[in-house]
Amino acid sequence: MTEIAVTQNPAPVAATIPAPRHLPDAQTVTAVTHWTDALFSFRVTRPQSLRFRSGEFVMIGLMGDNGKPLLRAYSIASPAWDDELEFYSIKVPDGPLTSKLQHIRVGDEIILRPKPVGTLVHDALLPGKRLWFLATGTGIAPFASLMRDPETYEKYDQVIMMHTCRTAAELDYGRQLVEGLRSDELIGEMVEGKLLYYPTTTREPSALMGRITDNLSSGKVFADLGIEPMTAVDDRAMVCGSLAFNKDVMAVLEGFGLREGANSEPREYVVEKAFVGEGV
Ligand SMILES: Cc1cc2nc3c(=O)[nH]c(=O)nc-3n(C[C@H](O)[C@H](O)[C@H](O)COP(=O)(O)OP(=O)(O)OC[C@H]3O[C@@H](n4cnc5c(N)ncnc54)[C@H](O)[C@@H]3O)c2cc1C
Ligand SMILES: NC(=O)c1ccc[n+]([C@@H]2O[C@H](COP(=O)([O-])OP(=O)(O)OC[C@H]3O[C@@H](n4cnc5c(N)ncnc54)[C@H](OP(=O)(O)O)[C@@H]3O)[C@@H](O)[C@H]2O)c1
Repeated sequence: MTEIAVTQNPAPVAATIPAPRHLPDAQTVTAVTHWTDALFSFRVTRPQSLRFRSGEFVMIGLMGDNGKPLLRAYSIASPAWDDELEFYSIKVPDGPLTSKLQHIRVGDEIILRPKPVGTLVHDALLPGKRLWFLATGTGIAPFASLMRDPETYEKYDQVIMMHTCRTAAELDYGRQLVEGLRSDELIGEMVEGKLLYYPTTTREPSALMGRITDNLSSGKVFADLGIEPMTAVDDRAMVCGSLAFNKDVMAVLEGFGLREGANSEPREYVVEKAFVGEGV
């Protein structure tokens, strides 16, 4: 019988290709707060080179399972002077991004493309006396930035934040932010007497109720706050909500004589979508 000499190859050495340490355009999560089972906010480090105007949005996301970045538009909720960036997010149960993003923790990395854009900026409005922020749901995010920006109070005598959600718990992020502003060392004095907050619910009893469109059309908000009705001469507005809300509130603003503006052509109001689609 012929013996066959079997020579064993040395055990294969694992190829030492270093795993990438960072995602492209990576920023590190510094804080996460869950407000409801469908809403959370988080803060991340800010790229040193990132300059933006309060109210603008950027593309953020995570690496997808296919190895490609999975990015979505997000309003920057923190003001331009902040060292970090804050975001306020929905959790869509089967949403490609937010089904994963909702699980981020302090120390994790997200992708942030540092190219801010958007229409909800002071430059897109003609000078006026009162500025209205009109938001539903996560549409409050750009106004969380603008409400914390001193320029807002330098430009206007009065700022009115109307935020409407279905339930009271969904108002908590905005409510806490406004309360914090009033006691803030830096901006508290500027805000005092200038920032009026009008939070309403539509599907749960609370102190103030009703859709923004209805409260403007009926004059209830003017009566409740003890202020004059809107005019195209004095009032400016920024709108951020669902497509249906944006469409309906634009008609109300046009009824008061306000016209839609843009960065290239400042007028009396500007609009941004809070999300694309009809809703989940
Ligand atoms: C200009 C702009 C700014 C945006 N800013 C924010 C922001 O600051 N915070 C934020 O949470 N989202 C924001 N969005 C929406 C965001 O881009 C994503 O759609 C969201 O993060 C969900 O991503 P997803 O991949 O999980 O689901 P997607 O596939 O993107 O969305 C699935 C469906 O969920 C619904 N949906 C998505 N986002 C929302 C929302 N915010 N509120 C209610 N329903 C929603 C829509 O019906 C949508 O078709 C913004 C969108 C645009 C266009
Ligand atoms: N928020 C929740 O508890 C909840 C629960 C399950 C699923 N979802 C889904 O998640 C998606 C986002 O929900 P969301 O609550 O953030 O947003 P949303 O459905 O746009 O409602 C947010 C607020 O905007 C008001 N609104 C809606 N359309 C309006 C219009 N055309 N004019 C004036 N006001 C208007 C709503 O009032 P009305 O209440 O009068 O409509 C509500 O107070 C929706 O598609 C929803 O189906 C939400």
